[in-house]
Amino acid sequence: MKLFLDTANIEEIKKVNEMGLLNGVTTNPTIIAKQLTNTKSEDLFKETKKILKEICSISEVPVLAEPISQECENIVEESIELSEISSQIVAKIPLTQEGLKAVKILKERNIKTALTLIFSLKQALIAAISGVEYICPFVGRLDDIGEKGIELIYNIVKVYKVYNFKTKIIVASVRNIEHIINSAIYGADAVTVPYKLIDELINHPLTQKGIEKFLEDWSKLSNR
Ligand code: E4P
Repeated sequence: MKLFLDTANIEEIKKVNEMGLLNGVTTNPTIIAKQLTNTKSEDLFKETKKILKEICSISEVPVLAEPISQECENIVEESIELSEISSQIVAKIPLTQEGLKAVKILKERNIKTALTLIFSLKQALIAAISGVEYICPFVGRLDDIGEKGIELIYNIVKVYKVYNFKTKIIVASVRNIEHIINSAIYGADAVTVPYKLIDELINHPLTQKGIEKFLEDWSKLSNR
């Protein structure tokens, strides 16, 4: 399973990359907006492209970037402009009729695409039929409305295997370690993880306790 980082914060991306854990980066307008709160520039698309360019320069991994427009023609135009930043860019488009039309055109132009805001198996099925490269099913937001988001991942993996669909599943809206563990158990291709969960993924109390015991025993030896 691959680990994508769900952030546009350069320092966070660098830190995860330094540990050799970065397989990709996902962004969305909310994530980009967080980095642009203090910008003085009026040209927000230009500023967005600057951030994405910097992200792409950190490591040669896929970087998912979302156009703001919702009409096919404009989605295509924005996605092309985003893809000109780097061949790493994947245009991340909400699953709508306009979005599907855009994916078809972008695929014909060899621009990589992801369909996002996926909340049901029927949507995941439609996305796979479209031949999109990635889907982003949102588990946390399903939990928020009282559903078991992770069950969607189990079902998507099962159906995609039956039909040997090539579309890759990036589990999104990940809120806790259970989401990550269950995504791995069910066989999702990737999870996109908020930076705040990275420490929790790495640490175990017995690892720290073990280090302390090793150091204590070693210092006894050197203080004989
Ligand atoms: C992927 O990049 C998604 O947009 C993101 O994981 C959504 O997360 P949220 O539901 O916590 O906003």
